[in-house]
Amino acid sequence: MNDQLQTVSANGAPPPDDVIVEIRSLHKGFGTKQVLRGVDLSVREGDSAVVMGGSGTGKSVLVKHVVGLLRQDSGEVWAMGHKVDDMDGDELDRLRLSTGYVFQGGALFDSMTVSENLGFILERHSDLSKQERSERIREALNWVNLPEKGPQYPAELSGGQKKRVGLARAIILEPDLMLYDEPTTGLDPISVRTVSNLIVRLRDERGISSIAITHDLLCAEIIADTAHFLYDGEIVASGKLDEVRKADHPEIRNFFGD
Ligand SMILES: Nc1ncnc2c1ncn2[C@@H]1O[C@H](COP(=O)(O)OP(=O)(O)OP(=O)(O)O)[C@@H](O)[C@H]1O
Ligand SMILES: [Mg+2]
Repeated sequence: MNDQLQTVSANGAPPPDDVIVEIRSLHKGFGTKQVLRGVDLSVREGDSAVVMGGSGTGKSVLVKHVVGLLRQDSGEVWAMGHKVDDMDGDELDRLRLSTGYVFQGGALFDSMTVSENLGFILERHSDLSKQERSERIREALNWVNLPEKGPQYPAELSGGQKKRVGLARAIILEPDLMLYDEPTTGLDPISVRTVSNLIVRLRDERGISSIAITHDLLCAEIIADTAHFLYDGEIVASGKLDEVRKADHPEIRNFFGD
């Protein structure tokens, strides 16, 4: 964790080596609707960055650019030293495989068991033997503290358990970077703590950097090294969570109810 907030580098130049994700002046619209109007965001390696903001402000849209699931209208996106907008084919596949993405809706396959949901990715994207795959699945489920859930279907799990399976699936290929889209939304406070603590352990024990989108203040308090508030297409405050909370901006006061 670093005490100083990273600022973005000049356009065209790669970010410093210790920066894992850098977004520069990102603009993105759909039709006539401008969603992002110049977002700057820099995340240092090993840090857990949190992006907060109201519903529909473009948080999910922003994070999708990090792995090229959406393409910007203008601006630059850098991840792990490479410019994402220049990537295609194998290079983009490699970026996506080294990035764990916990999607907002969970995105588990309902017709597959928990183990099959995890195994599917290993079958497609690793050279592991069947036995090694089973071992990896067992490890991942143990890690999220759901060792018994492999044979069950997503419909048989609680909301918090599904989130944890989503997390297990996202870490199964041992990523360097994690993107969490609302990892705790809709969970009770105990489950929020469980999932948030897992996110912290991924950072502390495996050195995984992350960007997490969250509405959830408890989650943000547990995981955030840096916090960033998105409003009207721009990051209007960045810093420690406490600094962002205290920022003199009407939308931020409104969001935190202060
Ligand atoms: N693929 C798309 N095509 C058209 N419009 C889109 C697309 N994806 C997102 N949008 C629009 O972009 C805006 C921002 O959406 P986004 O999903 O990023 O919001 P969000 O901040 O993640 O909200 P929430 O907190 O509710 O998840 C919304 O108006 C949405 O309708
Ligand atoms: Mg969203």
